[in-house]
Amino acid sequence: MKDKIVVFNFGGQYDQLIVRRVRENGVYAELYNCDTDLDTIDFSGLKGIILTGGPQSVFEEDSLKADPKIFELGVPILGICYGMQYMSNEFGGKIEHMDKGEYGKTHLFVDKNSKLFKGVPQESTVWMNHRDGIIENAKEFKKTAWTLNCPIAAYENEEKQIYAVQFHPEVSHSEYGNQIINNFLKDICHAKMDWEIKDVADTMIKEIKEKYAGEKMICALSGGVDSSVAATIVSKAIGDNLQCIFVDHGLLRKNEVEEVLESYSNIGLNVKFIDASKEFLDLLKGVTEPEEKRKIIGNTFIKVFEREAKIIGGAKYLVQGTIYPDVIESGKDKASVIKSHHNVGGLPEDMLFEGIVEPLRNLFKDEVRKLGLSIGMPEKMIWRQPFPGPGLGIRVIGDITEDKLRIVRETDYILREEFKNFEIDRDVWQYFTVYTPLKTVGVKGDERTYDNVVAIRAVSTVDAMTVEAADLPYELLTKLSSRMINEVEGVGRVVYDITSKPPGTIEWE
Ligand code: XMP
Repeated sequence: MKDKIVVFNFGGQYDQLIVRRVRENGVYAELYNCDTDLDTIDFSGLKGIILTGGPQSVFEEDSLKADPKIFELGVPILGICYGMQYMSNEFGGKIEHMDKGEYGKTHLFVDKNSKLFKGVPQESTVWMNHRDGIIENAKEFKKTAWTLNCPIAAYENEEKQIYAVQFHPEVSHSEYGNQIINNFLKDICHAKMDWEIKDVADTMIKEIKEKYAGEKMICALSGGVDSSVAATIVSKAIGDNLQCIFVDHGLLRKNEVEEVLESYSNIGLNVKFIDASKEFLDLLKGVTEPEEKRKIIGNTFIKVFEREAKIIGGAKYLVQGTIYPDVIESGKDKASVIKSHHNVGGLPEDMLFEGIVEPLRNLFKDEVRKLGLSIGMPEKMIWRQPFPGPGLGIRVIGDITEDKLRIVRETDYILREEFKNFEIDRDVWQYFTVYTPLKTVGVKGDERTYDNVVAIRAVSTVDAMTVEAADLPYELLTKLSSRMINEVEGVGRVVYDITSKPPGTIEWE
């Protein structure tokens, strides 16, 4: 059994980042909401606990708390920001709402005798983000760091195995942040730092083999990374007892069907290809409202999949490419629905299956990529940019026709070609073109034209929650404009969308 760290989330923005930092240091970590019932958590292999930051103040009436039994689990605890204040409050420290908050880079001074600060210079830069501060420690708690504005920027109680920092060691702006996390894991929790993504594949395959020997499973492939890696892992365990289905809804990119099917056959997946494009496009005819389009595509997908699953017959389990952020997100209170996301990995649970198999549900996207590469999947498949379930259906603004799809397909193809030529295809997170119904006047040769505007969307982001328009070379933009207008009939003008998210979203619909 591998050692484990449990992270309790108090609503901070960096909750997932903390988990990743721990994993990057070679220790497996899991994230739970701070008020999770401890009886539902598997604590086997537990070596330590981390409490995250959060937006609240301990003075608020309903401020978030963890079950105090965490202090009886007998493992070291590290509190970060709100997590620090919460513990101080529990143990009788004094906290004040300060006159001045501390936001951004700050100079930190540390007591070099603390195990937490081994290898950290006496003065270094850390990232702060707080208004409340501890002004007096609880009894037997020792101050181990301070800044000019924050008299107690870290404390510890070695006997109780409690450690806390006001700053954020998990963010890259904290110069020695990773050293501090490493010290906590290695010298305080004594965790074995031997968790590696490539070991994960062997364990997963073995477990699936043992648990599901002789059972038939079915998987909807989207061509995307998550469902492809999930299916490959399962197929390595149960071979052709896994039947995959790849549906063409008529809204895929140029050459996508051929390329995806070829990749799947190269990695030995047992795939049934269903061309349902006519069915989808007929149902979408004349529909202009984005949510309605999304719903039609999502529901039709389910209908087609259910029909095919029945024809294949005998599959007791559904394999899904759910990844860790999906699991965490679905456990959070839902924010208002901006768009109803359709994901071919997100089939309804009430389908006629005995169970769902989700081999990737504890992994982050970059870990899924590494896992895929470690089991020999081709780079091309692993590094595909994200592509939405409703496909080009939400990149043709307004009603969808074959001709509009042609325009978006051809311009998207040129875009992808040029991104590769300019060697920025791996640097930009997602890039595509959008067909707009807007017509403008132009001139080609001596002829007046009256053609459509196509928009380029290219974004940089870490997690797709907030994004910025990518800073593309001007030379690339002009080349794209010229190629799209010259090579694709019906394109009269090309614009670059520089909207960030928020307020814009990545897709236009
Ligand atoms: P938005 O447009 O919401 O997109 O900023 C964020 C990311 O999600 C992708 N996206 C989808 N992915 N099903 C998916 O699987 C969907 O319905 C869907 N809608 C948007 C989008 O491409 C971007 O990467």
